[in-house]
Amino acid sequence: MQINIQLIPFPPNPDLLSERVVVVIDVLRSTSVITHALSQGALEIIPMTMVEEAFQRAKIFPRGSVLLGGEMRNKRISGFDLGNSPREYVSEKVKGKRLILTTTNGTKAFHLVSSGREIFAGSFLNIGAIAQRCLELNRDLFIFPSGNEGDFSLEDTLCGGMLIDLIAKGEKKPTSLTDASCCAQVLYQRFEDKLLEAFHLSHHGKGLIRQGFEDDLVYCAQIDITDIVPKFEGGVIRVI
Ligand code: MLT
Repeated sequence: MQINIQLIPFPPNPDLLSERVVVVIDVLRSTSVITHALSQGALEIIPMTMVEEAFQRAKIFPRGSVLLGGEMRNKRISGFDLGNSPREYVSEKVKGKRLILTTTNGTKAFHLVSSGREIFAGSFLNIGAIAQRCLELNRDLFIFPSGNEGDFSLEDTLCGGMLIDLIAKGEKKPTSLTDASCCAQVLYQRFEDKLLEAFHLSHHGKGLIRQGFEDDLVYCAQIDITDIVPKFEGGVIRVI
């Protein structure tokens, strides 16, 4: 298996993805929210790129069956039911509901890689299950950290590095890593037991702490608290 990770989140060439498994990562906080919400019984998640589109989409579904969630500048969007803190997405609120999610980077990332053969949402919360699924599929892998508005993201690359490390250790044949994948793996090996320390160093982690969301960093640094594998297909994310 060849593994590539795109360190800077510019739109990838769609032809490059058509035969690859793609894992989208936005540790702080979209793919952690997606993983957690589905593990709490949410029916499905519709990632949207624009706030206005999210409001329009919600009108299609019966009242009470859908929740609007997400953030703008890390805060809950006016008129939305939920923000983008995974801790908000508890079963009492989300069980059986369809969620329409709009965030700065994470929800857009799914649309940038929509030509992928299979597209999954990865986070530290479900990293073991994602690695296992990639090993089972045994296809070339493209990891897409969603980044910070076009810039490199330390925490997303770190999570991609852990995925690479798990797969490289789990594969029977030697894994072929691009230079970017080697970088991500080395980054992970540097912070293996210190994920929170890395989050505190990261640009986005610092911003969340400043805005009072430090508990979200602690939450998103948990490893393998669920084994669900969220899959993006036909514009919707569901558990497979
Ligand atoms: C994003 O999509 O940029 C994030 O998930 C922002 C956040 O809620 O921390």
